Amino acid sequence: MTDQTLVRIVLASRPEGTPVPENFRIERATVPSPADGEILLKVRYLSLDPYMRGRMSAAKSYAAPVEIGAVMEGGTVAEVIDSRHHDFAVGDIVLSYSGWQTHALSNGEGLRKLAPSAAPVSTALGVLGMPGFTAWAGLLIIGKPQPGETVAVGAASGAVGSAVGQIARIKGARAVGIAGGASKCAFVRDELGFDQVVDHRAPDFAEQLVTACPDGVDVYFENVGGAVWDAVFPLLNPFARIPVCGLIAQYSSTGPFEGPDRLPTVMRQVLAKSLTIRGFIQREFADQRPIFYREMAGWIESGQVKYREDVVEGLENAPQALIGLLEGRNFGKLLIEVS
Ligand SMILES: NC(=O)c1ccc[n+]([C@@H]2O[C@H](COP(=O)([O-])OP(=O)(O)OC[C@H]3O[C@@H](n4cnc5c(N)ncnc54)[C@H](OP(=O)(O)O)[C@@H]3O)[C@@H](O)[C@H]2O)c1
Repeated sequence: MTDQTLVRIVLASRPEGTPVPENFRIERATVPSPADGEILLKVRYLSLDPYMRGRMSAAKSYAAPVEIGAVMEGGTVAEVIDSRHHDFAVGDIVLSYSGWQTHALSNGEGLRKLAPSAAPVSTALGVLGMPGFTAWAGLLIIGKPQPGETVAVGAASGAVGSAVGQIARIKGARAVGIAGGASKCAFVRDELGFDQVVDHRAPDFAEQLVTACPDGVDVYFENVGGAVWDAVFPLLNPFARIPVCGLIAQYSSTGPFEGPDRLPTVMRQVLAKSLTIRGFIQREFADQRPIFYREMAGWIESGQVKYREDVVEGLENAPQALIGLLEGRNFGKLLIEVS
């Protein structure tokens, strides 16, 4: 196995605005051998996620940026193909954070063994992994949907949004999804069972959203920002909760945002309507993960939560796939099938 070639994708330069393929570089190296206490991983699936845009930038954030020339970060599902570690055997499948490369050494720290008989291993990167947990924690701990309330969520066909709407319905709330384009909207309504869905690309998007939310919005799970926020904000009911999970419409913005300063208007409504706006990063709730795994596995088993994966073959296609994600070209949880 050691005569194989390791392929990795490194950050070649920092993007200005929307990332381009030239921001990435493919490199090749010899597959390393594990030392005592180490294992060698062969990556099967790499998860592509919106936060990766943030890691490409040097701007101060909640996590350190990827250095120029370093391997792009990312969660993976990998197989142990060589082991000199007593806790891991050849053939074990693990969840790891080995990044955009075909092989990696690990000392076992931070790995979680997966049971392929329990669920398809790719789900550890999606509905049963970080995005599913983000939906569960943000909605239930911050959003606290009550029976009969209306929960609105953008990027509704994606990894996080699809779970948010389905969990809202399990809790007896009405789920209103916002998605881009007719086929994503049909999927959200007909396959995932959301009560209503609105296409944010429609010219009369804001009017359609009003019709879809006749009783206003009690929980707005913010994934997007921008025009979607603008349309939802006037519909918020008194005491609405807004878990701020992501602002994907803004991730590639450069410089100050255009337009009038709307903060005074927003703050007036925060006060007048007693709104709760709370940003969060999913790992803040890490101690709740065992409860999430149990609940989500049960909902998948019973068919109450469905999921869709968008699997792109080949590590070399990861840069284009990430660029596509930031433009809404993915349809479901975006994964690279590495091997
Ligand atoms: N806080 C946390 O800990 C945490 C953890 C995970 C994810 N997140 C955030 O959750 C959000 C969803 O992530 P995900 O992994 O589930 O991604 P995803 O929904 O699977 O994919 C991203 C989707 O965002 C939508 N989008 C992109 N640009 C947009 C724009 N300008 N306006 C409106 N929609 C746009 C597109 O869907 P449409 O074609 O339907 O517009 C695109 O398919 C992101 O903001 C992400 O950063 C936060």
